Amino acid sequence: MKKIITIKKKIKNFNKKINISGDKSLSIRWVLLASQAKGISRAYNLLMSEDVIAAIESIKKLGIKIKIYNKYCEIYGNGINSFKYKKNLIINAKNSGTLGRLILGLLIKSPYKIKLIGDKSLSKRDFSRVTIPLQKFGAKFFYKIKDKLPLSILGSKTPEGIDYLEDKGSAQSKSTVMLAALNASGTTSIKAKKSRNHSELLFKYLKIPTKIHKTKKYDFINIKQPKKIKAFDYKIPGDISSAAFFIVLTTLANNSKLLIKNVNVNPSRIGVIKILKQMGAIISFKNLRDYKGERISDILIKSSSNLKAINCPSRLNSSAIDEFLIIFLIAARAKGISYFKDLSELNQKESPRLNWGAKILNMMGVKTELTRTSIKIYGNPNLEIKKPITIKNYLKDHRVFMMCTIAALTFGGEWKIHDQDSINTSFPSFLKIIKELN
Ligand code: S3P
Repeated sequence: MKKIITIKKKIKNFNKKINISGDKSLSIRWVLLASQAKGISRAYNLLMSEDVIAAIESIKKLGIKIKIYNKYCEIYGNGINSFKYKKNLIINAKNSGTLGRLILGLLIKSPYKIKLIGDKSLSKRDFSRVTIPLQKFGAKFFYKIKDKLPLSILGSKTPEGIDYLEDKGSAQSKSTVMLAALNASGTTSIKAKKSRNHSELLFKYLKIPTKIHKTKKYDFINIKQPKKIKAFDYKIPGDISSAAFFIVLTTLANNSKLLIKNVNVNPSRIGVIKILKQMGAIISFKNLRDYKGERISDILIKSSSNLKAINCPSRLNSSAIDEFLIIFLIAARAKGISYFKDLSELNQKESPRLNWGAKILNMMGVKTELTRTSIKIYGNPNLEIKKPITIKNYLKDHRVFMMCTIAALTFGGEWKIHDQDSINTSFPSFLKIIKELN
C-alpha cells in the first residue's frame, strides 16, 4: 500500500481521555518467553502490530501453537529449547530489530541452519552486536554481507554460559544474550550499560535464577540456566513510545488537555517525560501502580505555551531513545537553542533518525546544526509553516511518519506524507485516535 496522507489544518483544541495500544517491547518479549514456557500462557492487550505479528508467525514456524482471540492471545509452550521444525526454515523479522535480534538468542542450540530475513530497513541494520556474543556461546553465522540480513544461524550442541560486556546501552543486545542464557549451561554474566530492563523484570517474575547488581552506569546481570519456565499470563500496559506522540501533540496544541490511560512508565523508559518537563511541558502521573515489576500510570498532559530549550544530558539518551524525533518538535517551538548529544545509536534505527530529524526540521524552516552524533536545534516560539512539505522515501520508518503527522497538526502548512501503512509497525490505531480527538 502506498497511501499518502494530506494534512492542511491544525488540530482544534481538545479535552479527552484515550487508551493507547500495548507496549511493543513487552509484547515481543512475552511472545518469545511464552514460547519457552511449559504450558499455556495468555496475554491481554497484546499489541497487534506488524512487529508483534511477525514474532507470532516466527514462533509458529518453530513449531509452537498459538491461538489469537478477540481479547487475548494464547501460546502453547513446550519448554526451553523445544522448537520443532524442518530443515531450510526461513524466519522473517520484517521491520523489527527487536524480533530479529532477540530471536537469534533462542536459536543458539538449533540443530539445523535457520535463515533470518527482514525488510529493506532491517536488512540495512547492524547485527554484529548480537552475532559477536552469540558466537561466544558457540553459534555459527553465515551471510553474504558481513553481519547483515539475510543471515543464517547454526546452533551449538553444548552452549556454555559466557561473560559479555554490552557497552552501547542496547536493550536488544542485552536481551538477546539473556535469552541465549536460557540454553547455556552454567552462568552467563552480563555487564550492560543502562537500557530498558523489561527482560530483567520478566526473568525475575518468571523465577529464572537471575541476580542483578546495579551501579550508576552499568547493570551486572548473572543468569543461571533454569530447568523450567512456568507458563504465565500478562496484561500488557500501554506503550510510552506511542503515548509520546500524543504527549507532544497535546503540549503543542492550543488550550488542550489529555489523559492517557494505563501507560507503562517503567523508570528505564521515561526519559521523554523528564526531558519534556525540563523543557516546560505540563505532564503529571495519576494513579501510579505496580504490575509484575513494571510501573503503570495514567498520564495527564496540558498544553504549554512556555517551552524552553534544553541541553539534554546524555544519561537520559537510552531511556528516551525511541522518542527523540518527537522531542525535536518541542525543541522547534522552544525558546533558545537545544542540544542533544552522544546520539550515534539514533542513526542505527529503522531509518537514520538523527539525519531524518534534521532534514524534516529544515523542511519546516527550523535551523539545525547536525554532526554524526549530535544535533543543535534553533527553536522558534512563533514557528508557522508556510511552504508545502512532502515526505517520502524514509524507509517507511513508523516514527518518522508519526513525527510528521504531529508537526502538520501543530505547526500548520500543507503536508503530504507518503506510506501511511508504516504506522502498522508499532501503532496501527494512531490515525484513528487522532480523528477521535476532534
Ligand atoms: C528495544 C530496544 C531499543 C529500542 C527498540 C526496542 C527493545 O533498541 O530502540 O525500539 O525492545 O529492546 P536498542 O536496544 O537497539 O537501543
